[in-house]
Amino acid sequence: MHVVVSAGGTQEPIDPVRIITNRSSGKQGYAIAEAARDRGARVTLVTAPTALTDPDLIEVVKVGSARDMLASIESTLRAGADALVMAAAVADWEPASAARQKVKKVDGQDRTTLELTKTPDILATVRELPGVKVGFAAETEDLLGNAKEKLSRKGLDLIVANDVSATDAGFNVDNNRVVILDRDGAQDELPLMSKRDVADRILDRVRRIVDARH
Ligand code: CTP
Repeated sequence: MHVVVSAGGTQEPIDPVRIITNRSSGKQGYAIAEAARDRGARVTLVTAPTALTDPDLIEVVKVGSARDMLASIESTLRAGADALVMAAAVADWEPASAARQKVKKVDGQDRTTLELTKTPDILATVRELPGVKVGFAAETEDLLGNAKEKLSRKGLDLIVANDVSATDAGFNVDNNRVVILDRDGAQDELPLMSKRDVADRILDRVRRIVDARH
């Protein structure tokens, strides 16, 4: 099996020294990549910057922005992969134009605006390419409603929903509490567990879908 995993929070440049990013640590994506490797899969980890160490025996592709991540994932899937697990926190917006030089403040100015444009939706862009597609839904309200809507809008096989307002799970900690939803409407509500155990539960489901298609 060739599994492609994305991780980390993308960084959208404002100018050569400033970015827009988010609080993703990359831990859940790295845990999925390592779990897939340990099951014997070939793994490509497409990661936005994180503080984590590169895992052994995994092809690590380092990217910055949502656009960079899309280009790398698209070319990897076109070359043939069995599954894509999009654990990355992809920015929804990027500066309309990144300044070539560092933006200077102006004397007397106490307010400014930054124009943003939509980033490409990676999962929606690759939906027709072969491979099982798994998305994440990080929500602070109506977890299951939002997750179901994303599952169908992005044409996914599975979506992993997590409530990022909880303090004991989700962003930047080693544990996660998720619900895995599939196209048939099944909802597997998992208790609080390590991100590694969440990774194994996701990969069990991916394996079943891949096997059913062969
Ligand atoms: N995602 C993506 N491309 C984007 C934004 C998100 O592929 N430009 C992926 C994420 O990696 C995740 C899933 O889509 O697997 C859901 O991401 P999320 O940001 O929660 O959903 P959005 O569709 O961006 O909706 P919203 O921000 O409005 O909640």
